Amino acid sequence: MSSLLIPKVIGHRGAKAYAPENTLASIHTAADLGIEWVEIDVKLTKDGVPVIFHDEELERCTGVSGLMADKTWAEVQEMDAGSWFGDSFIGEKIPSLEQALNAIIDRGLGLNLEIKPCPGREKETAEAALDVATRIWPEDGPQPLISSFQHVSLETAMDMIEEWPRGFLMDDHLENWKELAEYLQVHTININGNARTREEIEEYIELQKPILAYTINDPLRAQELMRWGVDAVFADNPDIIRDAVETKH
Ligand code: G3P
Ligand code: MG
Repeated sequence: MSSLLIPKVIGHRGAKAYAPENTLASIHTAADLGIEWVEIDVKLTKDGVPVIFHDEELERCTGVSGLMADKTWAEVQEMDAGSWFGDSFIGEKIPSLEQALNAIIDRGLGLNLEIKPCPGREKETAEAALDVATRIWPEDGPQPLISSFQHVSLETAMDMIEEWPRGFLMDDHLENWKELAEYLQVHTININGNARTREEIEEYIELQKPILAYTINDPLRAQELMRWGVDAVFADNPDIIRDAVETKH
């Protein structure tokens, strides 16, 4: 069993409000702000390389039409993942998982790695990502939290490296959430903190596992969720949310 020490605020896709999401610049920005953990999304290129990217479509963050699942790693490396965000990020690349992990380890950050497979690649994505992560991640450091909305990906993580903690991601409130969470032997419940009611959160608290809520960029909502018993929030502006939850809630 892992011993998880989760900070109250986790940088979402790095520090998404200040740098292009899921890039090395975003990871370094979170570290520069003194944020302790980052969350990043991993999916596969056509040729099976785990890369840090959120959408199935490339357009929003690269200006390239088409799907990540249809591009090779060589093609992905040609794309600019920074200029959409601002001129100072022109030339920023989509990192491989390996590049991102090396930056995270170098900066001494904790990690929530979200397995974000393209449809039909739930098992394969978890396998490829965890092959890389278990090879690179220091054995003596705090273990990364592996999360996913996809239960097959979590099941694969449990089979591959049972001792790394798993986070059960849920966008809607699932009626059978407890059975699924118990079956997958998860360590945290990761919820949509803008959509959940106090009553639903009280139901999760009964499981006695840390509750993490995304994506909370409003300081008042962060304070409210923590009053209700949420343990940590993912934020695009983690410095502002950290200040809000460290002062009072
Ligand atoms: O892991 C928390 C959050 O990142 C889940 O939603 O769509 O931002 O990956 P999304
Ligand atoms: Mg995510």
